[in-house]
Amino acid sequence: MSETKKLRPASAVVAAGRPEVTPDGELNPSISLNSTFHAPNQIGSGYGRFGNQTWSALEEAISALEGGRTLAFSSGMAAISAVFNVLPHGAVITASKNGYSGTMTLLRKLTESGRVDVRYVDVSNTAEVLEALPGTVLLWLESPTNPALEVADLPTLIAAAKQLNCGVGVDNTFATALNQQPLDMGADISMNSVTKFIAGHSDVVMGSLSISDPALFTRIEDQRKLGGAIAGPFETWLALRGLRTLAIRLRQSQESALELATRLSKHPKVSKVRYPGLPTDPHHQTAKKFMTGFGAVLSFEITGTAADADKVCSASTLISQATSLGGVETLWERRHRWSAESPSIPENLIRLSVGIEDVEDLWADIESALGYY
Ligand SMILES: Cc1ncc(COP(=O)(O)O)c(C=O)c1O
Repeated sequence: MSETKKLRPASAVVAAGRPEVTPDGELNPSISLNSTFHAPNQIGSGYGRFGNQTWSALEEAISALEGGRTLAFSSGMAAISAVFNVLPHGAVITASKNGYSGTMTLLRKLTESGRVDVRYVDVSNTAEVLEALPGTVLLWLESPTNPALEVADLPTLIAAAKQLNCGVGVDNTFATALNQQPLDMGADISMNSVTKFIAGHSDVVMGSLSISDPALFTRIEDQRKLGGAIAGPFETWLALRGLRTLAIRLRQSQESALELATRLSKHPKVSKVRYPGLPTDPHHQTAKKFMTGFGAVLSFEITGTAADADKVCSASTLISQATSLGGVETLWERRHRWSAESPSIPENLIRLSVGIEDVEDLWADIESALGYY
C-alpha cells in the first residue's frame, strides 16, 4: 500500500490491492470463499465476518485513492448506517437537506425514533452550515448532492467543523476520490457507494468508508463486525475489477457529461441544467476551488410537466430509464417517480448518469426523446 500511495490516481487504480509478488503467485487477488480461517495462534481475522483477503485487496485499493484506512460494506447505506450507529444517543447531526433520498429517509427515521437530531442545511450555503454547526457532533456532507448537484465548499466547512471538534463525513459517491479528496481536506470519513462509479458496471451493490483516525476506524470496524453488514467476496472481487478502469471510465463520462450539459442548456425544451462543470452553473466557482473534475451525473428540468418528463425518459432507445448511476451505461429517470424523493426537487427534474457510449449517439437519443412531448 505504501508504494501505491505514491502513484497518481490513474496508476493507483490499476496497481493497488495486488497480492505480494511471489514465483507463480497470483497477479489478481482471488475470491476468498471461506467463512473460517486457520487460527492456530489467534493471529489474523479468523472468521469471514471479520475480514478476508478479497476485502483487504479492495480496501487497500480504495485507500490508495482516498487515504486513511478503508472498510468495505454490503452497500452504501450499510456504510452510512455504520457511521450513524457509532454516534451517541441523541447526537446532533448537521446534514445536506437535498441529499440522496435513502440517506434522507434514514435520517428522518432515526430522528423520529429519538436516536439522533438532525439540522438540515443547504450545503452550498456556507453561512447557513456554519450557523448550524455549534453543538453538532457530526457534519455529514454529501457533495455534489444527489440529484440537485449542489456543491459544498468542503475545505472551508471541514476546517470550521474541526475547529469546533465536530466530526466530518463526506459522501464522495458523485465526485469519487479522483475528483476530490475529503480526508486530505481534513474530513474524518470519506464514504462511497461502491455500487456507483467504483464498481462501475451496474452489477454490484457495495459501500465503503475511508477513515483517517485509527481509533475511529476501530470503532467502525467493530460496528461492521457486530452489525454484520459485510460484503460478499464475489461482489468485492467484481468491485475491484471495476475499479481498475475507474480513471479511464470517469474521464470519458465526464467529458461527455460536460458536452451534454452544454447542449442541453441550449435546448429550447430544457429550462434548467444542473452540472457543476458548466461555467455558468452557480456552483462552478466553488467546485473549481478543490475539485479536479466535476463528475458524470447531471440533472435538468424540462419546460413540460412531470408527465412530459416521464414520456421523455420512456422514449429513449440507447439510454435506459433506470435508477442508479456511475455505470458504463447511460441511465436517466425522473427522480420524483420515487415517492422518497425530497419535495425540494422539482417534479420535472430528470437525472442523467452519463456512461461511456459515443456522445453523439447519446445526444441523438436525448434530442429524439425530447421530441416526444
Ligand atoms: C450519493 C449516494 N449516497 C449513498 C447511496 C446509497 O448507496 P447504495 O445504494 O450502494 O446503498 C446512493 C445510492 O444511490 C447515493 O446516490
